[in-house]
Amino acid sequence: MSETHCLPPPLRSAAPAADGFGRTVDYLRLSITDRCNERCLYCMPAGYRGWAQRPDHLTTVEVLHLVRVAAGLGFRKFRLTGGEPLVRADVVELVRGMAAIPGVQALGLSTNGTTRLAPLARPLRAAGLRTVNISLDALEPGLYRRITGGEVATVLAGIRAALSAGFERVKLNAVLLRGLNEGEWWPLVRFAAEHGLPLRFIELMPVSRADGWNAAHFVPVTEVMARLAERERLIPLPDSRLGHGPARYYRLEPSGAVVGFIGALTNRHFCETCNRVRLTADGRLRPCLGNHGEVDLRQALRRQAGEAELAALWRQAVAHKPEGHLFRDGYTPCRPMVAVGG
Ligand code: 5AD
Ligand code: SF4
Repeated sequence: MSETHCLPPPLRSAAPAADGFGRTVDYLRLSITDRCNERCLYCMPAGYRGWAQRPDHLTTVEVLHLVRVAAGLGFRKFRLTGGEPLVRADVVELVRGMAAIPGVQALGLSTNGTTRLAPLARPLRAAGLRTVNISLDALEPGLYRRITGGEVATVLAGIRAALSAGFERVKLNAVLLRGLNEGEWWPLVRFAAEHGLPLRFIELMPVSRADGWNAAHFVPVTEVMARLAERERLIPLPDSRLGHGPARYYRLEPSGAVVGFIGALTNRHFCETCNRVRLTADGRLRPCLGNHGEVDLRQALRRQAGEAELAALWRQAVAHKPEGHLFRDGYTPCRPMVAVGG
């Protein structure tokens, strides 16, 4: 069936969707696969076998269909995540399709930066991808391997490829874990400064099931800031300069590094400016990473629900976006991060 006769009109002037707490929600993070070529301790429980089957994943056509619905509802910012989004074979085609949809303005990708990024960086840029976020938790190869199961040299090659492919912005993400890579904060800051890459420290979130990991390894971003402040001057930057996320950014003097802090647990105001919803690889729309609620859009798509129904389900999910996450209240996800999408 051709998709073209059921497109919603390109509602460029649509008022952006608002939730029940006055927040404008115009940012969709799409997990396009729950597969990954790494095994990060905080993301994938040891021995994880819960992979969705291929037919469970939304097809390219289905993903693009939902992106059109979202754009019609005023969504303007889109980011592909996973698992590792670059292990999905049609990722370049998906980016090309999304970039062509009226209303899709910001189009980014979050990747672990390993072997798939180097060959795909240029094709992705040519297809319309604008920004790339790369996870880098440690520069020391042994530490990197302990946390992710992978090789840091492949990520360094991925970063070089991303830098030369001409993206509008390339950023680094790091999660520090007590007793593991907590000492990597300074090498990472130096690396970020040398390469002119903004670096964000993300606080460990309990999104990988209660396996004892989260509490024992938690490092508050306030502690990272305090350590940094012993060496450098932290000059606050306006958030708006660097993207659509919850990070608070600083320029460091004298190193010149730009560093952001994402304190989902320590920052009590974290959720007040939340602008996003998530779509899982199997087509569930999740209004909040730290709450259980989700709406099954795959089921609606596969029983040929019309545009109006899909849009109504979407609006309902946004309207029911909870005020805040439950990470401080013993939240245990029913699926680990790798299956929900980062
Ligand atoms: N806590 C914090 N950040 C996480 N990420 C994955 N799992 C967790 C977690 N439990 C991060 C990855 C990646 C980003 C998309 O999400 O490190 O940089
Ligand atoms: Fe893979 Fe990313 Fe999860 Fe690590 S954080 S296991 S790279 S999806």
